[in-house]
Amino acid sequence: MNNQKNQAVSAQDLAYQVEAQWLLDGVNLSVDKGEMVGLIGPNGAGKSTLLRAISGILRCQDGAVTLEGKDLANMTVKDVAAGLALVPQIAPYTHGFTSMELVLMGRYPHLGRFQVESNSDEQIARDAMAMTETDQFANRTLDTLSGGERQRVFVARALAQQPRILLLDEPTSNLDVLHQLMVLDLVRQLVDAGLTAVAAFHDLSIAARYCDRLVVMSGGEVIATGPAEDVLNPELIETVFKVKAAVYRDPVTGSMTVSLIGPANGVAPLRNISIGRNSAK
Ligand SMILES: Nc1ncnc2c1ncn2[C@@H]1O[C@H](COP(=O)(O)OP(=O)(O)O)[C@@H](O)[C@H]1O
Ligand SMILES: [Mg+2]
Repeated sequence: MNNQKNQAVSAQDLAYQVEAQWLLDGVNLSVDKGEMVGLIGPNGAGKSTLLRAISGILRCQDGAVTLEGKDLANMTVKDVAAGLALVPQIAPYTHGFTSMELVLMGRYPHLGRFQVESNSDEQIARDAMAMTETDQFANRTLDTLSGGERQRVFVARALAQQPRILLLDEPTSNLDVLHQLMVLDLVRQLVDAGLTAVAAFHDLSIAARYCDRLVVMSGGEVIATGPAEDVLNPELIETVFKVKAAVYRDPVTGSMTVSLIGPANGVAPLRNISIGRNSAK
């Protein structure tokens, strides 16, 4: 990796324990400025925990996080939010707020004490909503939106924050295929213009297509890291995800693509217990 001046995010030996379980166990991660890194790994691997640790929502018992060379432990919530935005996997409780109100909250870290949003803050919020095609929902409360529409509003809030580092936790999991491409094309454009992004993905082909580098997590540890070409292979996918897969370069997009063939040998299928009972009769 490059020298420290180019480093946007660094996690050193991060360890986080809950009730005798290590959710993060000696995690090291270094992300350069202007790089887009994809976190992949099965459910429970620690992806969300790592993103929360980097954003300071969660304080680890061991290890350290540095953001643009500054020790996260010495930064206030507002200091962090002035440079870093997180799009959470599960939208937090937002009952009663309209989309516009939520997106405007993204401006909070840039306001002085007792200062209210100005016209320019409102314009930034409107631009962020236009970029995510959420302006049409500006005056609707969040509980009236579909899961994917709400997810885009949270992306808009993060963009309104005008961060230098953007963390996205499964940002496209609820989106239709068009909006998956639109949101990730937008993030990629911002990365090409200097933004640093770290995003958790379940879709391995999408991760490979958009990210400069993948970080594979399992059981709270980083077990591989590198460009998709080097990291994604059938052996690793079978070991980490317990799935047989084929990996090849997509002739149309030119990026690495993963075809999921089926559960690996020895993986017990989920069974419908009531069907089992009926058929036993
Ligand atoms: N407060 C908690 N208490 C106990 N286990 C937790 C807690 N928070 C998360 N976990 C567990 O930690 C593991 C990692 O979670 P997470 O980081 O959300 O995984 P991922 O995002 O990779 O699916 C999961 O097995 C989850 O159930
Ligand atoms: Mg998660």
